[in-house]
Amino acid sequence: MLDINKAIESLNWDKEPKGLYEPIAYTLASGGKRIRPTLALTAAECIMNGGLLSGDAIENTLPAALALEVFHNFTLLHDDVMDRAEVRRGRETVHVKWNDNTAILSGDQMLIEAYKLIARVPNDKVQRTLEMFNEMATGICEGQQLDMDFEHRSQVSIDEYMHMIELKTSVLLAYAMKIGGYIAGATPAQQEALYRYGLHIGLAFQIQDDILDVYGDPATFGKATGGDICCNKKTFLLLTALETADPESKAELLQWLMATGQDEQKIAAVTAIYDRLGVREAGEAVMEGHTAEALAQLDKLPQNDATERLRELAERLVTRKS
Ligand code: IPE
Ligand code: IPE
Ligand code: MG
Ligand code: MG
Ligand code: MG
Repeated sequence: MLDINKAIESLNWDKEPKGLYEPIAYTLASGGKRIRPTLALTAAECIMNGGLLSGDAIENTLPAALALEVFHNFTLLHDDVMDRAEVRRGRETVHVKWNDNTAILSGDQMLIEAYKLIARVPNDKVQRTLEMFNEMATGICEGQQLDMDFEHRSQVSIDEYMHMIELKTSVLLAYAMKIGGYIAGATPAQQEALYRYGLHIGLAFQIQDDILDVYGDPATFGKATGGDICCNKKTFLLLTALETADPESKAELLQWLMATGQDEQKIAAVTAIYDRLGVREAGEAVMEGHTAEALAQLDKLPQNDATERLRELAERLVTRKS
């Protein structure tokens, strides 16, 4: 498969003013799993019967794959301001290394760069691709708003949480699949299967992100742990704990939700409650269900080497540590 990192490296940020472009170069060079462009390219390969992308096929699919990664990285710059997160991919976040205004404006420019890449999609596919890209981008903004709203709400149901993560995280993975497949010529039914695969792995992906925010090893995860607990994020773990706790644990948990300025103690105490209630295992069970749903979608697609890689990817995500 095409080397997505090489393609990202070939984007040129050596432009003025440096204050705008250096944070973009810094972010895109900081690695990450590159899961979204990988999904788009693999979806395209699956539709083209496992054919390795070459020549025209690369020319046709790569701009959209790159747009998805640049767009994703843009959301991270703004998300880290919103979440006051200080570390990402093992490095200082842009708003810490520079400042909030830089994270906002370089982020804005990355959004524009993503659209410039979408403009390079083949003429006969660009309009529909743009429509899908827009649906995805609006979904993320809606999801991010719900995520923030939920921090200040005492009652949030698991269904509301699932709706929120579908928007803030899953739609990007789902549209990465659908856009990659669409450009490669997928039928409407195939596009639907690709979309649903991405949607289900996305739901599992965000639940695992919630789990790693508590139980991950910061060195491997690349982000600080405990942030979600500190800001009362309505994660799968917290909502499941609130729903299943015995009265005593629930009272203790509610007490900690009101605590401010005792981050270390709060993280330790809430984690201990999670351990006691087994909410991590509950999350893992839900992830397994979504992985199975994702795998079932693959049966509706051409069976080839790319489909096999999608199968492995879905299974790997459940146990990912970074
Ligand atoms: C982080 O996405 C944002 C979430 C949706 C949880 P990734 O975990 O894919 O981040 P990178 O790109 O690999 O760093
Ligand atoms: C991810 O939510 C959603 C977006 C970045 C759009 P998180 O806030 O959980 O992502 P991380 O954990 O900071 O990567
Ligand atoms: Mg966030
Ligand atoms: Mg965040
Ligand atoms: Mg997170």
